[in-house]
Amino acid sequence: MNDPDLLDPSAPGSGTGYATDFAAAPAALAHDELECLASLYPLPRIEIASGRGAWVRDAGGRDYLDFVSGIGVNALGHAPPGLARAISRQMRTLGHTSNLYTSAPSRELARSLTRATGYPKVFFFNSGAEGVEAALKFARARARARGLPGRDVLAFRGGFHGRTAFALSATWTPSYREPFEPLMPGIRFADFNDVDGLSAALDPNIAAVIVEPVQGEGGAIPARREFLVALRVRTSALGATLIFDEVQSGMGRCGHLLCAGHYGIEADVTVLSKALGGGIPIAAVLMRDDVASSLKPGMHGCTFGGSPVAATAALFMLSRIDRPAFLSRVRRRGRELGRSLEDLESRHAAIAETRGLGLLRAIELHADAPFDAAALVAAARDRGLLLVRGGERAVRLLPPLTVGRDEIEEAVRRLDRALGSLGSPGGPSS
Ligand SMILES: Cc1ncc(COP(=O)(O)O)c(C=O)c1O
Repeated sequence: MNDPDLLDPSAPGSGTGYATDFAAAPAALAHDELECLASLYPLPRIEIASGRGAWVRDAGGRDYLDFVSGIGVNALGHAPPGLARAISRQMRTLGHTSNLYTSAPSRELARSLTRATGYPKVFFFNSGAEGVEAALKFARARARARGLPGRDVLAFRGGFHGRTAFALSATWTPSYREPFEPLMPGIRFADFNDVDGLSAALDPNIAAVIVEPVQGEGGAIPARREFLVALRVRTSALGATLIFDEVQSGMGRCGHLLCAGHYGIEADVTVLSKALGGGIPIAAVLMRDDVASSLKPGMHGCTFGGSPVAATAALFMLSRIDRPAFLSRVRRRGRELGRSLEDLESRHAAIAETRGLGLLRAIELHADAPFDAAALVAAARDRGLLLVRGGERAVRLLPPLTVGRDEIEEAVRRLDRALGSLGSPGGPSS
């Protein structure tokens, strides 16, 4: 029998000894990429050959604990049992239709997602940026349909919404924006979590406010409840559309299906992507009726969005994640990871702060720490732990939502050693 869904004893991480000597074994970097790949990411990169659960194996045969999860995509870990079978069965039956037609998986996903989230309407796209792009367009269409005077958008410093023109225009990071200016006009920025600052930032020219309930790429910074409440109250008063970008924080990452569930606040539009497809690209823009009613056939479109295969993957992910026991386990694991990081903070002077929600966490380094976030990511990698930067001085941890307690403990031990190796006082230096 050769079923890829069955557990393979030679799969990454299947030995539980965690014994590999990573510091002595350099990562398998794909140097030949330098010849043929545009360097939009720092090259050369590790070539990952396979993955299972919270573990990946590089092309040189070394195992790593993966606390990046494809930047929050592999929520059920690598190669979750059943996903490959469901996708391949659908591909053999019907792979693509375009949005001129629908299919059973696409209809079923629309039904399941609207039921699960309470939003009456949804439409599907392929990526986070594409979903955000659509959400911002829909907000402007709604403003026009309601006869609002302005079309401006309010976004927040530290926020990240993607790389397409409208999404990038609402993204804060200047180095992402500047090479491509001029961008979309009419976007303003205010300070995240600053309730008092909203009075100056919001006026009748604002048609939409876009915010991440937890700023992900900004470094796992949770919104304060008063801040989101103030946004909800004030956008409602203005008739503006409140958009929650839950591309990273949604699909259980923060311990609720939607991170908004943690705050008990509903936006007019919510964007999901990343973990929704578990590795197959898909985004969902969930919307209230009065947003959907301002859209007409032909106003927007998408060749691939919600294809039968992507919808099958999303149905699979949703059916596993949207379970009370699963989500309460994510919250528990999140608290365990949070406590372990606090313990590291108490022992390493280089750490200024640890923060996050659920399994979207970060450690922030002091400005005068003797090393930076990139050095810490590299040192952790050399000890068999994959992490990703966030903001200017933070390192993010986004393990699969299925991560085990022992894997969290092992990851924190490796992080501790990585900190120690960089000369951070307080840790074992390996
Ligand atoms: C909050 C948020 N919005 C949008 C995006 C863009 O998603 P994508 O890279 O799929 O376009 C990301 C990606 O990291 C994100 O974290």
